[in-house]
Amino acid sequence: MGTPHNEAASGAFAKTVLMPGDPLRAKFIAENFLEDAKLVNNVRGIQGYTGTYHGTPVSVMASGMGVPSIGIYSHELFHFYDVDNIIRVGTAGGISPKLKLRDVVMAQGACTDSNYAHQFNLPGTFAPIADFTLLETAVAVARRMGVEPPVGNLFSSDVFYNKAGNTLDWGKMGVLAIEMETAALYCNAAEAGKRALTICTISDSLVTGEELPPADRQTSFTQMMSIALETAVEMAKKG
Ligand code: HPA
Repeated sequence: MGTPHNEAASGAFAKTVLMPGDPLRAKFIAENFLEDAKLVNNVRGIQGYTGTYHGTPVSVMASGMGVPSIGIYSHELFHFYDVDNIIRVGTAGGISPKLKLRDVVMAQGACTDSNYAHQFNLPGTFAPIADFTLLETAVAVARRMGVEPPVGNLFSSDVFYNKAGNTLDWGKMGVLAIEMETAALYCNAAEAGKRALTICTISDSLVTGEELPPADRQTSFTQMMSIALETAVEMAKKG
């Protein structure tokens, strides 16, 4: 089998796939967190690996940047590779003044300026939300590690260099942070009847203009990865 974007064989992906945006991040995760990781996809350099974490099969594959890209890859994982759970592991820019750099945020929902949900032909506005079981499992795992994650709305934007300059307006509605993928991922999970969750580390703040230095990015990234991988293990136990 295979798709135009994925050359992996049927059954090559585990039931849970972690999705960073960056293919080199996918490689790093496979090499540093998984055991016996094998490359299963490399079409367009979108590296996908399957290995085990503490004995549980787990895959990691890059999503690329933005709604169209994660829209394609998550659709194919859910529909053609029988994947049950996708956990996006990314970075986001803080919109809420309550967030600090390095916070590990869980996306309960995702607002968006994307037209992605238009394709579902609904007579209103669809609200993309996380799967509750995945979310509650990830929150419990984080608390076990001594981390109290902020949980709430993200804003999935189609635009990184936004000329309108009004992104912080989303903060008036309690939105926590901006990234570029979650709304499409949650729409696809809903359409497929599968589960999805986004976990993001706050890499920069639109409120203060601060940015994480590269060395610090690594530490908060490691904490986010431990939460995501332990969540994959818990989900395998739940069956
Ligand atoms: N905008 C969009 N996506 C992001 C940002 C941002 O400021 N920071 C991290 N991901």
